[in-house]
Amino acid sequence: MRKLQVKFGTGNAKGSSRSLIRPLQRERGSGDNEFNNRRRVEAVMAELDKMVGLENVKGLIKELKAFIEIQRRRQLEGLVSSTNTLHMIFKGNPGTGKSTVARLMGRLFKEMGVLTQGHLIEVERADLVGEYIGHTAHKAREQLKKALGGILFIDEAYSLARGGEKDFGREAIDVLVKGMEDYRDNLILILAGYKEEMDYFLETNPGLRSRFPIQLDFPDYSITELMAIARLMLAEKQYILTPGAAEELEKILRREILFGHRYNGNARMVRNIIERAMRRQALRLVKKKNLTRQDLISIEREDLLRPDPPAGKKENENDFPGGPPICYNNSQ
Ligand SMILES: Nc1ncnc2c1ncn2[C@@H]1O[C@H](COP(=O)(O)OP(=O)(O)OP(=O)(O)O)[C@@H](O)[C@H]1O
Ligand SMILES: [Mg+2]
Repeated sequence: MRKLQVKFGTGNAKGSSRSLIRPLQRERGSGDNEFNNRRRVEAVMAELDKMVGLENVKGLIKELKAFIEIQRRRQLEGLVSSTNTLHMIFKGNPGTGKSTVARLMGRLFKEMGVLTQGHLIEVERADLVGEYIGHTAHKAREQLKKALGGILFIDEAYSLARGGEKDFGREAIDVLVKGMEDYRDNLILILAGYKEEMDYFLETNPGLRSRFPIQLDFPDYSITELMAIARLMLAEKQYILTPGAAEELEKILRREILFGHRYNGNARMVRNIIERAMRRQALRLVKKKNLTRQDLISIEREDLLRPDPPAGKKENENDFPGGPPICYNNSQ
């Protein structure tokens, strides 16, 4: 469920004393013009729109964009401009688009004057938690510093609370909470991880929940969505699936969703399958003479099939240097 909570400031009519919205580049007189600025914002929005599914995410980002625009207009009119807490929780399995969306948000917030840099720093427990007293605070502060002006994205954030009271993970949480306050006008924190674990983490750390008013779910993609993602990824690389290849890919995806590991990577699995198919296509074509443009762009069914195991050898995933057998054909 998506929650968007907007905190209204209590400033006077001249505007809030602490606005999260800073002047755009053009307003700072950098020579950049309004047209370029709008174009960059629209480019980010177009990239977001191109992503398959994720309607809740797209809806939230449009809300935030509109909100920021209106606060800026209010600021220009001398009205109170409200602050908006933008720290977020992303819940979803691996490969469901969390990092991609966070990266787009960083770029958007930069163009809209919410962040100065808009970069994404992705970290996990090992990047934040040290091994001796004082080490954790130092490591966590370093990451905060690196992320200043952008987004600090903490993957598998619940692992910070894993070790109980004496674990240094708790100290890392305290440093992060302090950092959120100290840098609140130029840093966004995103805590990400599996849905169940994140829910439990927030339940057992109620103090944190209110600091992250935006919660976004990233559900697993359906077969239809995964197929659309595959076509999108291929189109970006100027490849197409022949009808036979599309049929085969769908079969592979169905089988993976039914029998594969629950956390096997969702859209990332699609990327892996496609990249492997591109290598197989190359291997198929490299021996061929008189290649046409059509040959070069087409992924055929056989590019998605699992190769035969070497003669006389029992099948084992280590026999296939191309990767684990999950993405091979369904002939057994
Ligand atoms: N909705 C989508 N449309 C198109 N491509 C997508 C979509 N979601 C994810 N992808 C692609 O799938 C791949 C995995 O996405 P991403 O790295 O954002 O997932 P993640 O949730 O951060 O995974 P992890 O938790 O493992 O880090 C990327 O190559 C990304 O471009
Ligand atoms: Mg990620």
